[in-house]
Amino acid sequence: MNDQQTIALGPRGPRVPAVGVGTWQWGDRMYWGFGKDFSEKDVFEAFEESVRAGVTFFDTAEVYAGGRSERFLGEFVRRTHAPVLVATKFMPYPTRLNGRALRKALERSLTRLGLPAVDLYQMHWQFPPVSIETWMEAMAEAHQAGLIRAVGVSNYSVEQMRRAHDALARHGIPLASDQVKFSLIDRESQRSGLLDACRELGVTLIAWGPLSKGVLTGKYSAGHRPPGMRGRRFTRQVFATLDPLLRLMRDIAASRGKTPAQVALNWCIAKGTLPIPGAKTGAQARENAGALGWSLTPEEVALLDRAG
Ligand SMILES: NC(=O)c1ccc[n+]([C@@H]2O[C@H](COP(=O)([O-])OP(=O)(O)OC[C@H]3O[C@@H](n4cnc5c(N)ncnc54)[C@H](OP(=O)(O)O)[C@@H]3O)[C@@H](O)[C@H]2O)c1
Repeated sequence: MNDQQTIALGPRGPRVPAVGVGTWQWGDRMYWGFGKDFSEKDVFEAFEESVRAGVTFFDTAEVYAGGRSERFLGEFVRRTHAPVLVATKFMPYPTRLNGRALRKALERSLTRLGLPAVDLYQMHWQFPPVSIETWMEAMAEAHQAGLIRAVGVSNYSVEQMRRAHDALARHGIPLASDQVKFSLIDRESQRSGLLDACRELGVTLIAWGPLSKGVLTGKYSAGHRPPGMRGRRFTRQVFATLDPLLRLMRDIAASRGKTPAQVALNWCIAKGTLPIPGAKTGAQARENAGALGWSLTPEEVALLDRAG
């Protein structure tokens, strides 16, 4: 894998392949239909296929499927003995009022994962009443205790990210990442200046929802909308506005011998971000890993920028 195909996790972190895997889907019945549309065997295959293709960065969270996603990931890591990097997240519920709450939640995540430490521990969101500085203090303590190898945040604005960065800097710890919604049709992070601020500080922007819940794979349409709650955002009118983009993605994909999903993910890589598409099956994981090993041309990126 050449340098373009790997990305550093923060200014001093390890380099990881430029595509990771999101695991919210693993075990989640209500939103993603686990147990109905796909099974434990499918998600194990998603893990195996990813690792086989060299995709070794996995993102989970304590809240995904009530902890089941963390349990699956931990079990798969043990089953294959693959050298993977594991990222998980802490949810600052309003009932969690101090650093001790973070440490307890982290210990429970480590138990579910069956690991002595995680490679990246992220604040899932920022909610009142506890300050960013208090959480970063707790993160620094967990880092010093060897329970986490890097600190990240998620869904933080430019200002919140700068505060987290400065609070950690007082402990000599870099902020590794900010995980936010980012895709061809979710560009708020570009407009708000977050992507530029990440570049300035050496913080990796981890892109969640890089396939816009599957819509950017091109398999959904006005007549075949994403199932359940996912369909709400993607009305017939929304599909009508997406049509030119989806057509362009299909054209580029066809001319490069790729798929629209691979174009969507390669565009995220071209923007200097680390996309973490959710994969339910081995086939999806294999296809998503195919976003590596080639690059959109600057002209193709510009066309997609305009159409997105
Ligand atoms: N930090 C946060 O607040 C936050 C929020 C959301 C997500 N995340 C993370 O980001 C990850 C990914 O984001 P996301 O879950 O919002 O969705 P996404 O990656 O945009 O879309 C994932 C969905 O697209 C479909 N898909 C994936 N690969 C495909 C392929 N190659 N071909 C056809 N369909 C494919 C699958 O659903 P179907 O097969 O059902 O269509 C899959 O569940 C999550 O797993 C999670 O780790 C973080």
